[in-house]
Amino acid sequence: MKTIDVRTGRPYQIYIEHGIIHHAGTYIRMVSAAVRAVIVSDSNVAPIYADAVENSLNESGFETSVFTFEAGEERKRLSTIEKMYEHFYEHNITRTDLIVALGGGVTGDMAGFAAASYLRGIDFVQIPTSLLSQVDSSVGGKTGVDLPTGKNLVGAFWQPILVLIDPDTLQTLPKKFFNDGMGEVIKYGCIRNRNLFERIEQENAADIVDDIIFESVSIKRDVVEHDERDTGERAILNFGHTFGHALEKLNHYSGITHGEAVALGALILTEITEEKGITEKGTSQRIRSLLKKYDMPTETEFSLSEILQATRGDKKSSGNGLSFIFLREIGTCFINKISTDKMKDFFTPSDITG
Ligand SMILES: NC(=O)c1ccc[n+]([C@@H]2O[C@H](COP(=O)([O-])OP(=O)(O)OC[C@H]3O[C@@H](n4cnc5c(N)ncnc54)[C@H](O)[C@@H]3O)[C@@H](O)[C@H]2O)c1
Ligand SMILES: [Zn+2]
Repeated sequence: MKTIDVRTGRPYQIYIEHGIIHHAGTYIRMVSAAVRAVIVSDSNVAPIYADAVENSLNESGFETSVFTFEAGEERKRLSTIEKMYEHFYEHNITRTDLIVALGGGVTGDMAGFAAASYLRGIDFVQIPTSLLSQVDSSVGGKTGVDLPTGKNLVGAFWQPILVLIDPDTLQTLPKKFFNDGMGEVIKYGCIRNRNLFERIEQENAADIVDDIIFESVSIKRDVVEHDERDTGERAILNFGHTFGHALEKLNHYSGITHGEAVALGALILTEITEEKGITEKGTSQRIRSLLKKYDMPTETEFSLSEILQATRGDKKSSGNGLSFIFLREIGTCFINKISTDKMKDFFTPSDITG
């Protein structure tokens, strides 16, 4: 078993182990004295894994119930949270009880937000089952929901008390979601870990997924420990995300997945910074090859000016500019704020004039 300690305001551990969901109760009992536990899961994941987690929790003396919602980002809404609260109330959940998020990032974000806010905060455990949630969203304590006007606009920082990662669950994850998670893995390699980037270039990611999870989560842990509340260094995790979010928006949040959009955003940005001599020559070609290898799009129908237009109102904007993460080379990045009036000049003026 691999263990990662996270020393945030409220410290916790991450365990990575094949088959760990069958022993979830044992590990959760070590950190929780709760009487009751609610397993929150979606309509795809619950039928496959909820029984195993529930049985294990029961063996460790937890009284359990399962709250299931219909799978999909469309359900990441306050209306689902409200139903969750009702379930908690009906099952007599108190401040010392526990929420267990079993599923992908949508499940983790919502269960975490409900845990952060119900009775002003109760403990929760993350059992992420998608690659994206295993390498990214289950760690770091960002929880929340979407509003009709934008993604993740309502939320809270609320750290889990434990994260249990079972790589075996990826066997049932549809391939397109595996590749989606690879978008974030490529990001980690780009910003902090050249060796990780080279390994996913040379090997098949599915064959080395334990190492991929461990290396990715380690980077996220390091960054989050330094900047839990996202006021500085944590911004590097947004590499590819400014253009990525713009691409998602332009595609009306369908047709292109988040991971694909992030990876494509990283490619487009790196082509520009390479052209400007900021990034080592050949870097964007390597990113392009990786996107092809993991079946992600390398082109978009939208022009750079349309993408820039769509970055307006980005959550990463502050004052009168936007922070971009640029690569020096694979594995090394830095934060660069570009003010609104410099934006047009910076990004290839010829394209912007139209
Ligand atoms: N909190 C954070 O720091 C953070 C970071 C990145 C992303 N996110 C959020 O995460 C969400 C995306 O996460 P996601 O891609 O995991 O989405 P998701 O939870 O919708 O999961 C993707 C799909 O895979 C299915 N699934 C998950 N695990 C499965 C398994 N083992 N077997 C079969 N099917 C499985 C789900 O039912 C769903 O249909 C977004 O809402 C995003 O905003 C949050
Ligand atoms: Zn992301």
